[in-house]
Amino acid sequence: MARIAVVADLHVHEQSKGYIKKLFLRRDINKEADILLIGGDLTQNGKIREAEILLEELKVVKIPIYAVLGNHDYQLNKKDKIIEVLKDKVLVLDGDGIDIEIKGFKVGIAGVKGFCGGFEPHVAQAYGEKALKDFVFAGDREAEKLDEALSELESDVKIALLHYSPVKETIIGEFPEIFAFLGSKKLSVPLDYHKVSIAFHGHAHHGTIIGKTDGGIEVHNATRILYHNNYIVFELKEGKWIRKF
Ligand SMILES: [Fe+2]
Ligand SMILES: [Fe+2]
Repeated sequence: MARIAVVADLHVHEQSKGYIKKLFLRRDINKEADILLIGGDLTQNGKIREAEILLEELKVVKIPIYAVLGNHDYQLNKKDKIIEVLKDKVLVLDGDGIDIEIKGFKVGIAGVKGFCGGFEPHVAQAYGEKALKDFVFAGDREAEKLDEALSELESDVKIALLHYSPVKETIIGEFPEIFAFLGSKKLSVPLDYHKVSIAFHGHAHHGTIIGKTDGGIEVHNATRILYHNNYIVFELKEGKWIRKF
């Protein structure tokens, strides 16, 4: 059976050496899963040195790794360099879709960072100042990128990997005042339209582990903080992903 491990919010910094390695070897990810998905905030401050440390730490992971970036990875405006540093070990998806085969099962992965915007009935509106319009349009663009990435996939079993949340349910636990900065309802529209089999995100460190879109798509908050610094593992059974660990 195809198995995927998922984690988000590694936030690697100078003091992370050895720590991330342990996270993956404590239970031995190489025995538990066939691929690893990382849902953004790979680095703490978006530093190249942090990406280099992550690359070193990830050497213990022998299965293919797919990731999206998070807001922290954008902090120093060096996202392209971070992607470059990681490229031999991690395929970073930014509005991209990729079809792969896991133990004979065709699986498509669409990845995008996503953005803010909020959730009904209180979503940010593109009205008034240019700065606010730009904020809303940045969210719209990420939702479009997700739609484009999902459109590229040929596999029937589609997985969406995000950093920001597409649903409110999985950010509950955070302060309501920041909900609009933790995700956007607009990201859930392509998930429903393309009938993804499951969606993952990070970013809401103190959120809730599971939620659903209006169309019934299961959304999991994969931030490591909610799982005592662990990754989670899902197994594909008759077209459905069942959580094992
Ligand atoms: Fe984070
Ligand atoms: Fe984040």
